[in-house]
Amino acid sequence: MYDIAKLLHLISAIVWMGGMTFMLYALRPALLAQLDAQQRARLMEQVWQRFFAMVAVAVVVLFATGTHLYTATFRAAKAAGAAGGVPLGWNLMLVIGMLMILVFGHIYFAGFRKFRRAVAAAEWPVAGKAAGLIHKLVVVNFVLGWLAIVAVRLVR
Ligand code: HEM
Repeated sequence: MYDIAKLLHLISAIVWMGGMTFMLYALRPALLAQLDAQQRARLMEQVWQRFFAMVAVAVVVLFATGTHLYTATFRAAKAAGAAGGVPLGWNLMLVIGMLMILVFGHIYFAGFRKFRRAVAAAEWPVAGKAAGLIHKLVVVNFVLGWLAIVAVRLVR
């Protein structure tokens, strides 16, 4: 069970982190170079709709599997009478992971919903502002994601 949970945890992290890497370093610069603001907004609405649906699933799986990995090990350490429980890096992953989930909630409910409404109403300046917020928050989650991975691997 532990190995399956860890595999699902890894798959979800790869989907989320890989999607953000592609978006920030391949898709965004290419769109800025090739399309005008309205074309970009229409395309990104379609892209984000699909990507955020995937992230929503990844978030649920990451949280469910992450808490399973954490509590299973914590309980085993306690039962064995080991001092300390789990490594500090695991606690950092728990905290940073929850922060990332909150930031994603903000991206979706404060950013993407506003963006979609603005695109539907052809209010391009509003759409541009919402897209700017989404971009900033995706950068925040991208940095947090790598910090969480470094913490869980390197902090004992
Ligand atoms: C939401 C709360 C989260 C909790 C409670 C959690 C918990 C954990 C735990 C306990 C482990 C260690 C498992 C082990 O070494 O056997 C782990 C590993 C890992 N987590 Fe998380 N995690 C969370 C969120 C995230 C997020 C948001 C990401 C990245 C986007 C992530 C990426 C990873 C990766 C890549 C590993 C594997 C590291 C390795 O190979 O040892 N986790 N997580």
